[in-house]
Amino acid sequence: MIITVFNNKGGVGKTTMTINLAAALNQLGKQVLLIDIDAQANLTTGLGIDPLEDIESQGKKDITHLLTEPRTTLEETVVKKQWKNVQLNIVPSHIRLSNMEAELIQIIDSDRLLVKKLKNHNYDFILIDPPPSFGKVNSISLMASSAILIPTQLSSYPVRALEYVIERLNKVAELKEQPLAVLGIAVSMYDKKSSNFNLSMSERLFNILERSGVSNKIELFPESTWIPRLNIVSKCPDKGYPLSEAEFDDNLTYPDKEAAQQAIECYAKLAEHIIEITEKK
Ligand SMILES: Nc1ncnc2c1ncn2[C@@H]1O[C@H](COP(=O)(O)OP(=O)(O)O)[C@@H](O)[C@H]1O
Ligand SMILES: [Mg+2]
Repeated sequence: MIITVFNNKGGVGKTTMTINLAAALNQLGKQVLLIDIDAQANLTTGLGIDPLEDIESQGKKDITHLLTEPRTTLEETVVKKQWKNVQLNIVPSHIRLSNMEAELIQIIDSDRLLVKKLKNHNYDFILIDPPPSFGKVNSISLMASSAILIPTQLSSYPVRALEYVIERLNKVAELKEQPLAVLGIAVSMYDKKSSNFNLSMSERLFNILERSGVSNKIELFPESTWIPRLNIVSKCPDKGYPLSEAEFDDNLTYPDKEAAQQAIECYAKLAEHIIEITEKK
């Protein structure tokens, strides 16, 4: 299953969710590959890989090579990271990707660049983290995917932006030979205390699904899978590991570790839900 985690609204917690969902899937026994196809390389650095020091200076290849060099294979670009609880495979990104749009557009059949490279892969799940835009790189990711996961925050602008996300997905789906399944909408940075606000935002979200004619096709995931807003969740990327490793960090306080555990349980629920849906599809 190749999933693009997609939302053109930046800052909704997409990269953070991608990392910790991947870790949760691995803890449930799945082999997971993460593809960082955002020039910001937040996913790469959030997993402790420095695109310059650990990849470029060592003569290794990253996403830019995978996209532009026909002979570069997927496995040549994969970095394997083993932590105590989790093992993840990562195709790192590089800031260079930011000025490659023109070059990518010129390549014949550029939308299918990644499709070809992902053929015959051996992973249970591939999660792709594209930039928050509707540019070339996003088309390349969506064309290579069999499914989409839409992360959102339950707040005004991110919810409103969903209208455009759905519009875009409908357009891409028309161009694809294989169907593009939408797994559903996953909530990040959720504040349990604002229950009235959450309720009104979910209602607004349902209205948008209704208006876009997709209310029977796109589900808002159940509340048990919603990821709470917790400081520890935003601390881990600076430390270069997924949340699942927080328990082994002697520099974290006991409350931090407890909060990490709370978030991990939500990611586990999210992972279980996604496994269940993908098995059905
Ligand atoms: N569950 C969460 N709790 C607290 N902060 C979060 C959570 N998820 C994401 N963040 C923070 O929100 C900001 C945006 O998250 P990020 O994953 O980079 O979003 P995106 O990839 O959509 O731009 C980051 O500073 C991140 O640390
Ligand atoms: Mg991001």
